[in-house]
Amino acid sequence: MMEERRIFLPSPKLSQQAHIKSMEEYRALYRESIDDPEGFWARVAEEVEWFHKWDRVMIDDFAHARHAWFVGGKLNAAYNCLDRHLTGARKAKAAIMWEGEPAGETKTYTYQQLYEEVCRFANVLKKHGVKRGDRVSIYLPMIPELPIAMLACARIGAIHSVVFGGFSAESLRDRIEDAGTTVLICCDGYYRGGRIMDSKATADAAMAQYPGMQRAFVVRRSGGKVDMQKGRDTWWHEEMAAKDIASECKPEEMDAEDPLFILYTSGSTGKPKGVLHTTAGYLLSVKKTFELIFDYHDGDIMWCAADFGWITGHSYGLYGPLCAGATSVIVEGSLSYPKPDRLWEIVEKHRVNIFYTTPTTVQACMREGDEWVDRHDLGSLRVLGSVGDPINPEAWMWYYTVVGKEQCPIIDTWWQTETGGAMITPLPGAIPLKPGSATVPFFGVELAILREDGTECEVNEGGYLVIRRPWPGMMRSSFGEPEQFKETYFVQFPGLYFTGDWARRDEDGYYWLMGRVDDVIKVFGYRVGAVEIEHALTSHEAVAEAAVVGFPHEAKGQGIYAFVVLKSGVEQSEELKKALADHCRTKIGPIAIPDHIQFVTVISRTIQGKTMRRILRKIAEGDIGDLGDTSTLADRSVVDSLFEGRR
Ligand code: WTA
Repeated sequence: MMEERRIFLPSPKLSQQAHIKSMEEYRALYRESIDDPEGFWARVAEEVEWFHKWDRVMIDDFAHARHAWFVGGKLNAAYNCLDRHLTGARKAKAAIMWEGEPAGETKTYTYQQLYEEVCRFANVLKKHGVKRGDRVSIYLPMIPELPIAMLACARIGAIHSVVFGGFSAESLRDRIEDAGTTVLICCDGYYRGGRIMDSKATADAAMAQYPGMQRAFVVRRSGGKVDMQKGRDTWWHEEMAAKDIASECKPEEMDAEDPLFILYTSGSTGKPKGVLHTTAGYLLSVKKTFELIFDYHDGDIMWCAADFGWITGHSYGLYGPLCAGATSVIVEGSLSYPKPDRLWEIVEKHRVNIFYTTPTTVQACMREGDEWVDRHDLGSLRVLGSVGDPINPEAWMWYYTVVGKEQCPIIDTWWQTETGGAMITPLPGAIPLKPGSATVPFFGVELAILREDGTECEVNEGGYLVIRRPWPGMMRSSFGEPEQFKETYFVQFPGLYFTGDWARRDEDGYYWLMGRVDDVIKVFGYRVGAVEIEHALTSHEAVAEAAVVGFPHEAKGQGIYAFVVLKSGVEQSEELKKALADHCRTKIGPIAIPDHIQFVTVISRTIQGKTMRRILRKIAEGDIGDLGDTSTLADRSVVDSLFEGRR
């Protein structure tokens, strides 16, 4: 591996105004956060409003895969994102600036307006019997009703479960069923890359397979024709306009540890798990990280380009910015349609100060060429963020020089759905940057890099990244399966949280993330489980067996490589490959479509019959020069035949 040695110091101008002004200040505060986490987080907690203060800051019990924060405290997340800002001038400040895909369609909600909309929808939910603790599934594109619905749930104590609008009917059904929801919020259709996606039909297909659905609120977005099932489906706008719907709604007094939301994410098992986040710990984590990692100042405009169907959108599109009183830009549709510079046009138009996206988006822009960027005045930008995948130094440098004109720090943030907020990240005014490194741990985050046997790695030695102690924003449980939380994260290294990532720490204490070690594949920065795709493939009538691995892919970060054994008598053909790809789309969604399908007669397995993914990954990468330990492989010749068939 080429050693990356460039270092970029924070600009003095930025440092002077920053919340954290120097490496020394960072180090001192970091020390304090580790030595006295209760003192540190209690101070953060004072920044929001409580109905009742906590009795105890934390219960630190990773030994039993358990932790809790601000125990005994009572607060409401929506209240802290809205009502708290309604005194004084902030009331009239934009909370959300929305940009629809059809050119020229924009909408701004001030804090006051958003508050009223949220209260109204909270009242609609209440009117239809939704209570504290009930789960509400939200299947919407990036339109204002999405954050409104999320905050309305939070206001009345219902637990929202946002399902990415691009997921298939089956994926939606699974998530609805697992959460046991009785209410779905969806829309007629929406815009994506110039097309209208028929979203209600997909929701209908999901609901048809789930008899428990009592009510669907349908947002009118595309204006297309939809089937409204009598007694179940009603229009959002009609519900909101009803005479008995008031624009005030008393917030529910939630316990600090009450669930705020569930978000399904892919792991090593076939079934996506419902990551459960709670009210106080999550809210405070995202507020504080938002303010410090992007060096937020009052008046800044934040654009987190991630869809709210993923954790990044939850944390840095909605809860972080709104809890801090910022303006958040929300964009519907494709960022590269109708032209590759739609993204930069939006930055220019809304005078965005903080822009946050994925390395795959940065790389896609880089491939389009500098001229698309240069066409726009991007002088408003101050901080550029990256998340979801390791960003390679080349893309980092392009982002830094071409987009940021060497004036904006690149804030490469490492974190996970499970951690709620950023864990390894630079701070704009304090941390010198090294292209490709997510740099240093955030306050209160204590990490280690371990060998298989649990001993600590040396400097620059790659190993398993673990988290040593609880952090307020960390998930509490897998919804409905409390045991699974322990089994997934705390068995590899007992008492420590296992991230699933491979990393090294250099001589300056900087972290370099090197990808997943488990069966999670990151496509465009989004998670999809290898096992989920295998299940999708084997559910096809032609398939006997399947094994799926990720491989480096220039445009997607990781691509999907599927080894497929067909049932006897089934003919191999290009049409069948296409049919299998379509099948994955229907079962999971477009992100799960394999880039390569290789028909094989046998899959490489261990003596115990376990799929040798490590070996399959090598084959998919086209390099079987060094296979490492193959002693457990049942039949070595299989590897060679798989490799030959690779073409
Ligand atoms: C990867 C996204 C390198 C990592 C917030 C992690 C990263 C997984 C980075 C979580 C980064 C995220 N550098 N790798 N800056 N950020 N990852 O749950 O493998 O969608 O475990 O959360 O993304 O993905 P998730």
